[in-house]
Amino acid sequence: MKAGVYDSGVGGLSVVKSLLSSGLFSEIIYYGDTARVPYGVKDKNTIIRYSLEALEFFKNFDIDIMIAACNSVSAYAIDELQKNSNFPVTGVINPGVLAVKNGLKDKNSKILILGTKATIKSKKYENLLKESGFTNTFSIAPSLFVPIVEEGLFSGQVLQSVLDHYFKDIKSNPDAIILGCTHFPLISDAIGEYFPTSTLIHSGDAVVEYLQNKYNLDKKFDETKMKFFASENPDGLKKVAYEWLNLEKI
Ligand code: DGL
Repeated sequence: MKAGVYDSGVGGLSVVKSLLSSGLFSEIIYYGDTARVPYGVKDKNTIIRYSLEALEFFKNFDIDIMIAACNSVSAYAIDELQKNSNFPVTGVINPGVLAVKNGLKDKNSKILILGTKATIKSKKYENLLKESGFTNTFSIAPSLFVPIVEEGLFSGQVLQSVLDHYFKDIKSNPDAIILGCTHFPLISDAIGEYFPTSTLIHSGDAVVEYLQNKYNLDKKFDETKMKFFASENPDGLKKVAYEWLNLEKI
């Protein structure tokens, strides 16, 4: 079982981290569109166009499933991707909502949704959460987090100033924070320190359960082979992958 995992850059590695230990896949082909990151400040049609180009890339690899490990793509392009492929295509917003349902028992929990401008504008999380009974939500689009993560600034002064910039007006800690951009788990330590009593939730937490339920996949592979590709500077992407996924060699 071969999966193609796609993001605008390194963010999708936070989803791969969960997939790697799942036993669901014999091979994962990762593609980061690093030449055009960030996606989250672009409009719907551009995100769809880029996504369809990524789909063409995956058609070279005989994959069994495509996982758009990018919330901005998940917000706008899943239907188009599905229409143009003969394998299943899944996004990460539904797994993110599943993670909320698994992690939060109190429907009145105050939930902060963090995502790119594109994701927040789509209201996908807000609407799906509302359908599940979670109505006490508010959203912020901290766009600068994405280039900061791409730059590898996972801690330090620059990150702290940017956290202050977006969060300084939040008076009380939310009960939960959805990391609704796959780049954000890479700076979850810093976000967690900023909001020490909040539960941090992201799609990687539930993606395996979601895929198993939706596609009836078995956990039958002891090892998952990884291949990394990027539209620009693949070595930079591999470097983050080695560190983040604790890989010794590829
Ligand atoms: N990691 C992506 C997401 O989950 C995209 C970030 C970006 O390229 O702006 O939305």
